[in-house]
Amino acid sequence: MSDAFYVSTPIYYANGEPHIGHFYTNLIADALARSMRLNGSDVFFSTGTDEHGQKIKHSADELNISTEEFVERNSNAFRNMNTLMNCSNNTFIRTTNEQHKKAVIALWNRLWENNCIYLSEYSGWYSIREEAFYDESEIIDGLSPFGSPVEWTKEESYFFNLSKWQEPLLNLYKDKDFIFPQSRSNEVINFVKSGLRDLSVSRINSQWGIPVPNNPKHTIYVWVDALTNYLSALNYPDTNSTLYQKYWANGKTVHVIGKDILRFHAVYWPALLMAAELPLPKKLIVNGWWTSNGQKISKSLGNAVDYSNLIEMFGLDAVRYFFLREISLGNDGDFDQKIMINRINADLSNNIGNLVQRSLSMVHNYCDGYIPKYSLTHLDNELLQQFYNAIQHQVITGNTLSLIQTLADRANKFIDKEAPWTLKVNDVDRMHSVLFITLEIIRCIGIYLMPYIPDSSKRLLSYIGINEVKNFKELNNTLQSGVKLPTFSPLFPRILSQG
Ligand code: MSP
Repeated sequence: MSDAFYVSTPIYYANGEPHIGHFYTNLIADALARSMRLNGSDVFFSTGTDEHGQKIKHSADELNISTEEFVERNSNAFRNMNTLMNCSNNTFIRTTNEQHKKAVIALWNRLWENNCIYLSEYSGWYSIREEAFYDESEIIDGLSPFGSPVEWTKEESYFFNLSKWQEPLLNLYKDKDFIFPQSRSNEVINFVKSGLRDLSVSRINSQWGIPVPNNPKHTIYVWVDALTNYLSALNYPDTNSTLYQKYWANGKTVHVIGKDILRFHAVYWPALLMAAELPLPKKLIVNGWWTSNGQKISKSLGNAVDYSNLIEMFGLDAVRYFFLREISLGNDGDFDQKIMINRINADLSNNIGNLVQRSLSMVHNYCDGYIPKYSLTHLDNELLQQFYNAIQHQVITGNTLSLIQTLADRANKFIDKEAPWTLKVNDVDRMHSVLFITLEIIRCIGIYLMPYIPDSSKRLLSYIGINEVKNFKELNNTLQSGVKLPTFSPLFPRILSQG
């Protein structure tokens, strides 16, 4: 029986166009979903747009267009990003959908019925930009911990009894696998141990959001609204629906999130779910942030790197590869186009590309394009075993791609050492075996690359006569001698330096 997994990205503020930061978070989730599917799991993968909140309304007002039109436009930009990046999501959720609104209201009612929400008065610091509340102790030089302006707010508000969930939350974090990487887990544990205050979960005078049931002068706090997307994507509140049953009630949920929204996902979200007596996510994978030439990427600085230009210049898979390879999952990275070009050339053109190019050329020139016959020595078998068992697919850590580079490098060295061009003259049988081993290694590398660069790996595998791979188990299906291979062309042409 296959495991059911639910993989999600955050839903992106429909407040502007997507940039490499959003592209990156989606990419991690996509590689993860693809990798789990190839592992035999049944995966449902969701992404979407977060469309409520004062900030969004302000932005639409500034442009003098209706908020509906504004969010529709931006939501479409995110949808287009998914198409462009070959994202394998199964659904795209918008918080302005009626289905989503129903889910938020149902969750709210459930919290209310469970006496976890009460009406009182809020006074404290609120950042409109982050749509987040902060304690006095968290304010640094008059700004939020993430550097946004905050305003002192005093108003009637509904509260969620977050303080009551301190112990259950600390118990949850005892599962060392709950938050990746571990350093982020420590950050959360310290925050929760320092004491939790009840959370203000409604705003008054906010006209763009979901009204509180029975008290429409209040709007449900945008983060409660947004977090519920993970349930509405699975048809909640219809808890009998197949999607909800399979992936939320009985599946394992993995939320991929950026480090800036950790508190919402590691503290508020599980507490809300516990309060509503709903199952909890299994894992949070927390990615770091990309800067652009050392600076935070922001609309106001106008330094957002346009992923679509990169894709146009270098090809989708080269760009996907770079972002997933360049930094280990969890770390921050600085985007620099020159580094990107060097990386693509070194890893994809010179290492993997060269391995494929020279091996296939020899098979076509020395063996008429047929997969050669072979006879393997004990050492050959040992070598191949290392390739068959090189990668465990349970988690993507960002190091898989560097491991694949090591494999390609080892394969290139194997070819250099065995020198099929010399064997061709004095030991044709051995030459056949060496080329067969090389094709087998290419097959492994092609399969390992599938979650990361799906199109190119498909092409690569087609060059060795494999049309489709549905499961990593197919690593066991050795190539058949005597099969005629199709013609091929370079996979990753070298990028010439651009000044
Ligand atoms: N709408 C909320 C999330 C609600 S989820 C229930 C939000 N949206 S966001 O558009 O601001 O950010 C979405 C994701 O993009 C976050 O995971 C964030 O970390 C990620 N990134 C935004 N800029 C980024 C970089 N410069 N680098 C890497 N990821 C970044 O927060």
